[in-house]
Amino acid sequence: MVNMKNIADDFPILAQKINGHRFVYLDSAATSMRPNYVLDRIDAFYKSSAANPHRGLYALAERATAAYEDARATVARFVGADADEVIFTRNASESLNLIMYCYARRNLARGDSVVIPISEHHSNLVPWQVAALATGAELRYMYIDKETCSIPDSEIERKIDKTTKIVAFAHVSNVLGSRFPVEKLVARARRVGAVTVLDAAQSVPHFHVDFHALGVDFAAFSAHKMYGPMGVGVLYGRRELLEKMPPFLFGGDMIEYVREQDADFAAPPHKFEAGTQNAGGAVGLAAAVKYIESLGWDNIESRETALMRRLMSGLAEQKRVSVIGSPDPAAERYGVVSFNIDGVHSHDAATILDSFGIAIRAGAHCAHPLLDYLGVKNGCRASLGVYNTERDIDRLLECIPLVRRKLGYGD
Ligand SMILES: Cc1ncc(COP(=O)(O)O)c(C=O)c1O
Repeated sequence: MVNMKNIADDFPILAQKINGHRFVYLDSAATSMRPNYVLDRIDAFYKSSAANPHRGLYALAERATAAYEDARATVARFVGADADEVIFTRNASESLNLIMYCYARRNLARGDSVVIPISEHHSNLVPWQVAALATGAELRYMYIDKETCSIPDSEIERKIDKTTKIVAFAHVSNVLGSRFPVEKLVARARRVGAVTVLDAAQSVPHFHVDFHALGVDFAAFSAHKMYGPMGVGVLYGRRELLEKMPPFLFGGDMIEYVREQDADFAAPPHKFEAGTQNAGGAVGLAAAVKYIESLGWDNIESRETALMRRLMSGLAEQKRVSVIGSPDPAAERYGVVSFNIDGVHSHDAATILDSFGIAIRAGAHCAHPLLDYLGVKNGCRASLGVYNTERDIDRLLECIPLVRRKLGYGD
C-alpha cells in the first residue's frame, strides 16, 4: 500500500517556498508537476541512449529506437489501445488538429454536422469551427444542464442526427470537473454513423481510461497533465481510420520510398510522425504511466475524491463564494472546481492567493463559449494532483476570505 500522505516528497518542485510561504500548487489541470522518477528517466535517456530513433544501426540508435517504441507500447497498454494506434504529437491540441486536418476536412461537406458540447476547451472547439468553415458543414452545440452540468439525454438525441459525421467531447470538463457520458454519446454517434473524438486531457490523470472499451474512434491527451514532460501528447485513432487518412506533416521517417515526383508513405503510426520526434518526451510519458501505476488507481481516486469533497464542503461554507456549476459537495467531480469570490476579479484573487504561496488558475480557462452560456465572465479554478493534501485544501480555504480583506472589504 502506497503512503499517499508523502507523495509530495516525490516532487522536488513542491519543496520550494513561494513568496515566503509553503508552496500550495492547485493548478494541475493546467499542467501537473513531475516526480523524480520521471525526471530521472528523462535524464537517463539523454545521458545513455539519446541517438535518433529509427535512423541508425549502431548500438545507441538501437537503444533509442527501443526506448521510443517501448514508450509507445507502455502508453498504449495504459489507455487500452494497440501500439500502432498510438501516435506521439506535441500535445492534445496538436492531436485534435491532426484529426481535423487529416480526417474532418476530407470527410465533411455542406449538409453535414459536427456536434460538440458547449463546455469544450478551445482546443476541442476551434478546430471544429475551422473544419466547418472550410467544408460548409454546420458546427452544432449540445447545451449542458446548468444545475447538474451534465449533457441532458434529450440534447444528445436531438442534436446528433443523421447529418452528423463527427461527435467530439471532453471526458472531463476542465472548468466544471464533471464527467460526460461517453457510452451514451458513442452509442448515439454509432446509431447515426458518426465518428467520435474523445478529449481525454482531463480524465487520463484521474481515473483509468480504456479507449477500446469506451469504443471511441479517436482520442487525445497530453503528457504534461499526467506528471509527464511538456512537449509530448498522444493521438489515439482506430487502425482502419488511421490507415485511410493522409499524413499530417511530410518529411523524414514517415515514408516507405520517395521517387522524384511522389512517395509511398509508411503505415500508421509512423505515417503521422514526420521528422525527429520528442523521444525524451515519450520516455518521460512512459515513466509517468509507470509512476501512476505504482500509486494505483484505487489510491489515487479515493484520495482525490476525499480532497475534492473537503474542498467543495469548505467552499459551500464560505459566505462570499459562488461555485461555477454544481455546488453540491457530493456531486461527482474529477480534480477541478471553478468559483468566484463576490466583488473580486479572478485575476486579483489569483494574485493575492499567490502572495500566500497558493497557485490557482484565473481567467476564462480556454472556454469562452461555456462562460458566455453560463453568464460568467471569468473565474478562479483550483485543481488537484496526486501530491495535494488536506493541508493544501485547508490553506486555500483559510486564505480565500483574506482575498476580500486585502481588497478593503469588511468581510
Ligand atoms: C479539456 C482540455 N482539452 C485540451 C487541452 C489542451 O491541452 P494542451 O494545451 O496540452 O494541448 C486542455 C488544456 O488545458 C484541456 O483542459
